Amino acid sequence: MEFPFDLAPVLGGERFCVVDQHLRPAGRGGGTAKREELEQQLRTVIDELGKASAKAQGLSTPVTSAARMESNRHVLYMLRDTRPPRGAVLGFLKVGYKKLFLLERDGSHVEVEPLCVLDFYVHESQQRRGLGRELFQEMLQRERVAPQRLAVDRPSAKLLGFLGKHFGLRRGVPQVGRKNGITAGGVLFLYL
Ligand code: ACO
Repeated sequence: MEFPFDLAPVLGGERFCVVDQHLRPAGRGGGTAKREELEQQLRTVIDELGKASAKAQGLSTPVTSAARMESNRHVLYMLRDTRPPRGAVLGFLKVGYKKLFLLERDGSHVEVEPLCVLDFYVHESQQRRGLGRELFQEMLQRERVAPQRLAVDRPSAKLLGFLGKHFGLRRGVPQVGRKNGITAGGVLFLYL
């Protein structure tokens, strides 16, 4: 996904860029006006990625936006194409901790607070080339979490295929009740 501005000062020069609720652009120098411009560009990048992901999933409202990032303790991992002149964003993965109620096989309910996959998108022109896996592996490594300890918020068919193929995750424990904005039955807790 390309933008009408150079992404290097906004996202840095690395293959992965990690953004949290503070929405800090990579470039720090250049005075107040420049910093505000970079902050606005970072907001644009996040909003456009959120819209593209929502469109790909057939959602009417994006799950990811700059405003939502600011009001939650979520972490956004972006995968970059850093080639000049402006670079591009190839995809992103958003995660965050959520309190969930899970229904165990014996019918009992358990409260847990796992790291939850909240949004995941690779640009249509780049899917099925291993980029999603690259993003996911980076996230697992930085968050120090095993894939079978993750929860997934309303996984799409593509994401279920992805998790089965790369991580052998095929079974889940359904969530019950509603807490922290996650809909009953909408989350799958994965384990091997
Ligand atoms: N149809 C079915 N399965 C697919 C598709 C597809 N069009 N694309 C990817 N997959 C699954 C398959 O298991 C595929 O393996 P295969 O090609 O051998 O069948 C595997 O993913 C490919 O792995 P990667 O190349 O590493 O993944 P990719 O770069 O394509 O990224 C992603 C996966 C992010 C799910 C991507 O397909 C995408 O953006 N899909 C649209 C948005 C979406 O559904 N996001 C998940 C929303 S749910 C949530 O975030 C909680």
